[in-house]
Amino acid sequence: MITLLLAVLLGAATNSASASTSPYFQPNSTGIRLQNGFERVLIQPYGNHAFRVRASLMRDPSGKELSALLDPPIEGPGGGQGAAHDVKVPFMGSATIRNGDLVADILHGVISFFRVEQNGSRTLLISEYTDTKALQARYYRQDFRAASFEAQFSFTSTPDEQFYGVGQQACCKDHSVNKKGQVIDFVNFNSNVRLPVYMSNKGYLHFFNMPSQGQIEFSPIRTRFVASEANVVDYWITTALPGDYDSLQQQYTAVTGRQPTPPDFLLGYQQSKLRYYNQSQVIDLAQRFHDEQVNVSLIVIDFFNWKFQGDWSFDPEFWPDPQSMVNEVKRLTGAELMVSLWPSVEDLSVNYNTLQEEGLLATARDGPGVQDSFEGVYTRLIDSTNPAAREFLWRQLNESYFSKGIHNFWIDQADGGTLGEPFENNGQNISAIPYPRSFAQYFIGTQEGTGKMYPWFHQQAIDEGLQNLTENSNTGPTPASCQFMSLTRSTFAGGQRFCSYLWSGDTDSRFDVLLQQITSGVSVAASGISAWTLDIGGFAGMDIDTDSGRELFVRWFSMGVFLPISGIDRTRTCSLARSSSPPHANPCPNEPWSYGDANFAIIKNYISLRYQLIPYVKQLFEMLQDTGRTIMRPLYYDFTLSDENVVNGTAVNDPLIVHEFMFGPRILVAPVGTEGALVQEVYLPRLTSEMIEEGLSWTHWWTDTPMGEGGRRIVVDAPLDQIPVFYLGNKADIFEGAI
Ligand SMILES: *[C@@H]1O[C@H](CO)[C@@H](O)[C@H](O)[C@H]1NC(C)=O
Ligand SMILES: *[C@@H]1O[C@H](CO)[C@@H](O)[C@H](O)[C@H]1NC(C)=O
Ligand SMILES: *[C@@H]1O[C@H](CO)[C@@H](O)[C@H](O)[C@H]1NC(C)=O
Ligand SMILES: *[C@@H]1O[C@H](CO)[C@@H](O)[C@H](O)[C@H]1NC(C)=O
Ligand SMILES: *[C@@H]1O[C@H](CO)[C@@H](O)[C@H](O)[C@H]1NC(C)=O
Ligand SMILES: *[C@@H]1O[C@H](CO)[C@@H](O)[C@H](O)[C@H]1NC(C)=O
Ligand SMILES: *[C@@H]1O[C@H](CO)[C@@H](O)[C@H](O)[C@H]1NC(C)=O
Ligand SMILES: *[C@@H]1O[C@H](CO)[C@@H](O)[C@H](O)[C@H]1NC(C)=O
Repeated sequence: MITLLLAVLLGAATNSASASTSPYFQPNSTGIRLQNGFERVLIQPYGNHAFRVRASLMRDPSGKELSALLDPPIEGPGGGQGAAHDVKVPFMGSATIRNGDLVADILHGVISFFRVEQNGSRTLLISEYTDTKALQARYYRQDFRAASFEAQFSFTSTPDEQFYGVGQQACCKDHSVNKKGQVIDFVNFNSNVRLPVYMSNKGYLHFFNMPSQGQIEFSPIRTRFVASEANVVDYWITTALPGDYDSLQQQYTAVTGRQPTPPDFLLGYQQSKLRYYNQSQVIDLAQRFHDEQVNVSLIVIDFFNWKFQGDWSFDPEFWPDPQSMVNEVKRLTGAELMVSLWPSVEDLSVNYNTLQEEGLLATARDGPGVQDSFEGVYTRLIDSTNPAAREFLWRQLNESYFSKGIHNFWIDQADGGTLGEPFENNGQNISAIPYPRSFAQYFIGTQEGTGKMYPWFHQQAIDEGLQNLTENSNTGPTPASCQFMSLTRSTFAGGQRFCSYLWSGDTDSRFDVLLQQITSGVSVAASGISAWTLDIGGFAGMDIDTDSGRELFVRWFSMGVFLPISGIDRTRTCSLARSSSPPHANPCPNEPWSYGDANFAIIKNYISLRYQLIPYVKQLFEMLQDTGRTIMRPLYYDFTLSDENVVNGTAVNDPLIVHEFMFGPRILVAPVGTEGALVQEVYLPRLTSEMIEEGLSWTHWWTDTPMGEGGRRIVVDAPLDQIPVFYLGNKADIFEGAI
């Protein structure tokens, strides 16, 4: 069907004369252009069952605007066509265009999208929302000093519609999977990584291909997207049958990119702590893993391994010989290393003068260009949106780390703008300043207009650097596999195309947050980002000398076994005294053996289980690369069509439903988030008739007890060493990688 459509598209241009005035269904047009006075709107087929819509004022889109779309798409028609169209519609005009099962219909200037059903009828998905005496559905406000504008685009919705995705919500209050009723702020801030893409239970996915700050409002009868600064409004919509979220993801990732498969070591256990602050500590750590015979695949070296922010190199006082450390770690454990990098540059950094002279630092609209402050010094951000800055950054990283055998990079704190975190300067505590976001300016534009994409360009810098230096046979538009990876705190739509994975930022060490993280993980997964992990035990606030802290750690650890990437561990508190030098030299231990002997035995078993699951996880990533099929799956993905309790429970964000997830198609995980719990109530979703015909049914992971076809609540024992997990099919097959 794709080839057929393309073939017809090529011939379609010649039909434009008759098409331009025809109000009739126009199945194979290259695009419609709606000219409404100073406004123009372009609707073009882009990918399978999908359209790209661009709206601009005064002038056509140049095609050079920032975009997260691959051009052309990996699958489906469109792309490479600039502003091509063969139908032109005047103000209040009407026209129709079809791409696969999606129809865009302009009726008297108002755009609607329909799905074509198998029997040929059409189902309305969304229409531009307007009313007799209401604001225009496409509404612009232009600043008198700029060509850019604020845009507000409104679409119809119904009170019972459900919306999923919109990136990763902030820690720690929001436990939602269904976002209906929410206002979502598009501002990067630590754990808050909202992405302008969402799926509807009516069977469509809507993506705003715009890196501007702003918000989306999912109100009862209207969905409104607001971009605080834009040069062109650019959105993309696709459809599939209701309940078929895998197809929506396949179509979306075909236009924004597919996750390259990670190297095997990233599927094993990762050890980190805030922070190992010298080289002998890291070697001692590796020695202990070796002596305890515990597998470890990656060891992470956290921030302030540098002397000054922006050095992008080890402080030689504490890290005199990185290469020998790398060799020792490898010899003792086989593990790879990862090192943290921050985007901030302070005046004392060796790189400051060059960066300033070459114009490779971000600046601010007024004043001396300082964006932020940390540890008593003002800082500026490297402007990774500038290709020359990416090259500069990579040169330092290669020189300091990569060429010495440290191949993986942790992009931390690179959210863009000002983080507005509390800080201390010259002895003065500054917290909650009332103007936390600076007017940052980048090579690509302003914070308001482009800032959402700042972290994305850091990912690109590392990705490009790694691709440039490693042997790879990748021939597609994006790599299909990775030798090494970066870990990042933030990203933008399409970030899944990089050799990079996201973690959920600085979370609080609390039982309720462990559960909240499930809703964050499945939401960002439903936004196309499956390579995801979190801080095991939370980022901060856990006292490892308490029973409660230790219990929380083990509970969280058990969930980490069943995540796409297994999780990292961070700041701990304990009774040991801290010294102030070197900075953040936390003496509290955070290793598998630091939580008491009984817990160590349990943790060892969980690590071992993770290694047994690697063939399965590997298959999940292969599938993700091939088809965009989500790894961490909210229950509505697999059970919408078979279980009304899942649909209804998701609608109201019932904890019983939204605090469970599928880890790939075969494993259901129901982490324990109650302190002192001995048992756990679990909802086993009702299997689809296809699953039942395949002979599948639920089985308890730890006892292999058959649990039937689901559709019921059960109560299971939940000791610390048995996270409630259920599987479909045969466990031996799962260990062999059957999915
Ligand atoms: C247009 O494309 C569709 C596939 O989407 C195909 O079935 C149909 O025959 C084509 N129609 C015309 C008029 O060429
Ligand atoms: C066609 O299919 C749709 C979706 O399944 C259904 O809602 C509609 O009633 C059907 N129409 C006819 C005429 O059968
Ligand atoms: C590294 O830190 C440890 C404390 O954990 C200390 O005993 C050791 O002397 C330090 N080594 C170096 C090379 O600084
Ligand atoms: C990768 O190589 C290309 C081609 O030589 C170069 O333009 C680009 O700047 C390099 N990227 C980095 C991050 O060094
Ligand atoms: C990386 O560093 C090594 C060692 O200094 C050097 O030989 C190589 O040219 C560097 N590559 C790049 C792309 O900077
Ligand atoms: C600032 O806060 C820190 C930690 O909260 C405290 O140790 C320090 O004394 C405070 N400094 C001042 C000047 O209040
Ligand atoms: C450690 O990992 C290897 C594979 O790298 C695996 O064969 C072995 O079983 C693992 N050991 C344990 C105790 O899990
Ligand atoms: C789910 O909700 C719908 C609509 O409110 C209701 O008709 C249906 O009975 C509910 N199903 C279950 C299983 O509770």
